[in-house]
Amino acid sequence: RTNFEDEGLPHATNKTLADYTKKFESLFTLTPPRMRMIVNGLLEAFEKGLKEPGQVVPMLPAFVFGWPEGNEEGDFLAVDLGGTNLRVCLVTLGNGQFELTQAKYRLTEEQKQGDGQALFDFCAQCMGEFLKAQEEEEYIKVAPDTVLPLGFTFSYPTEQDRIDHGKLIRWTKGFGAANTEGHNVGAMFIKSLEKQNLPVKLVSLINDTTGTLIASRYVNPTTKIGCIFGTGCNAAYMEKIGNIPKLKHLGLPDDDLMAINCEWGAFDSFLHEHLPRTKYDIMVDQASNKPDEQAFEKLISGRYLGEIMRLIICELIDEGVLFLGQSTYKIEIPYAFDTAFLSLMESDPTDELLMVIGIFSHFFAIDTTLEERQFFLALAKLISTRAARLSACGIAGLVKQMDCLDEGCSVGADGTLYNKYPKFSDRIHQGLVDIFGDKGKNIQTIHAEDGSGVGSAIIAAMTKKRKDAGVY
Ligand code: GLC
Repeated sequence: RTNFEDEGLPHATNKTLADYTKKFESLFTLTPPRMRMIVNGLLEAFEKGLKEPGQVVPMLPAFVFGWPEGNEEGDFLAVDLGGTNLRVCLVTLGNGQFELTQAKYRLTEEQKQGDGQALFDFCAQCMGEFLKAQEEEEYIKVAPDTVLPLGFTFSYPTEQDRIDHGKLIRWTKGFGAANTEGHNVGAMFIKSLEKQNLPVKLVSLINDTTGTLIASRYVNPTTKIGCIFGTGCNAAYMEKIGNIPKLKHLGLPDDDLMAINCEWGAFDSFLHEHLPRTKYDIMVDQASNKPDEQAFEKLISGRYLGEIMRLIICELIDEGVLFLGQSTYKIEIPYAFDTAFLSLMESDPTDELLMVIGIFSHFFAIDTTLEERQFFLALAKLISTRAARLSACGIAGLVKQMDCLDEGCSVGADGTLYNKYPKFSDRIHQGLVDIFGDKGKNIQTIHAEDGSGVGSAIIAAMTKKRKDAGVY
């Protein structure tokens, strides 16, 4: 049976790829009313998360109190454990500016799935090597008996009750290292650092979105939201403590501000009441190492978009619609179709779609017709536009939560999808206009300057300042 039969349409063989394009258009297009419904669902989830611990969208207090002042200064180390790479940075802050040197290490699948402590040992080891190289190059001198403050950007949901602690709620983005969920990753990292005997002290543990929020605000005072659109998708914003009922027991002043790491990637997990998931999305979800979790993220983030497209292609191969008579085993391997391919297709300037020819022949040993290539381009557009419009829903939810539509604001944004995918940001902006009408133009997204590195350093500096001043 083909999908067309499922929908009461004539048999697939009578159909052209243009007909298939229409079918997928209707599956992947988000209308403005539908988007507004999703925004309302998000708002409800935000409210629940702020009220009580342990909710689906956990709205995690980040113990970053208010905005940077711009006078943060000094040398800081930052370790950034993201979705794909490990980065170690040396950041020098001063006069409202920063300088950064860094080293990047690609994480292996074994490290992501192995033992948690071994993963942190590797982070500490890389930091040791980096620090040594920096000292040799004389970029930095650590005087005897002193330590360098270290900010740890750990971009997974962690429950915090202070800035240098964080209990990992669950791994996301395909990570699965053992003996880590439910543990204090701050303490685990300190243990690894001690093994290396390094002159550093862990000052703060933050999420990449919180770092992005703070780093963006450091250079742009209209910033109110920090977003990541990369391997994962998430946002942070600044909330009045009085609006966070679950923190009431701390007795902090109601008007003070606290950064919240929303973990909105988890929106609609488990119950799946709000999001328009297609059967391909459900297949991606069920085959993942965490079925039913991160439902919103699985429709948006770079880790999954290529896989959604691959599953559609594979279905059409099985139905005898694509690549007749060719060997297709290479494209039948899970996750073989990288999201970067969608991005490349959309940047193809040629009428013949030469870049698309190259992708299929080079990576999958498949010849394509022009009609097929046009179909793939259309699919890439549909999948990534849906991702951008859902991202707009997330931003719109936070704009409503803060009630700042009239006043407007900037959203500091980072991540490969945002930075590299053609038109991703334009599509977010169009989405905001579709949700809010013309007022949607009051919300702009701006590329953020390295939240995970610079943001981490600024937060470490803010934390040190509070400690030195004897404030909690
Ligand atoms: C995932 C993580 C989240 C992170 C985001 C972007 O959603 O759970 O903590 O901010 O990816 O890296």
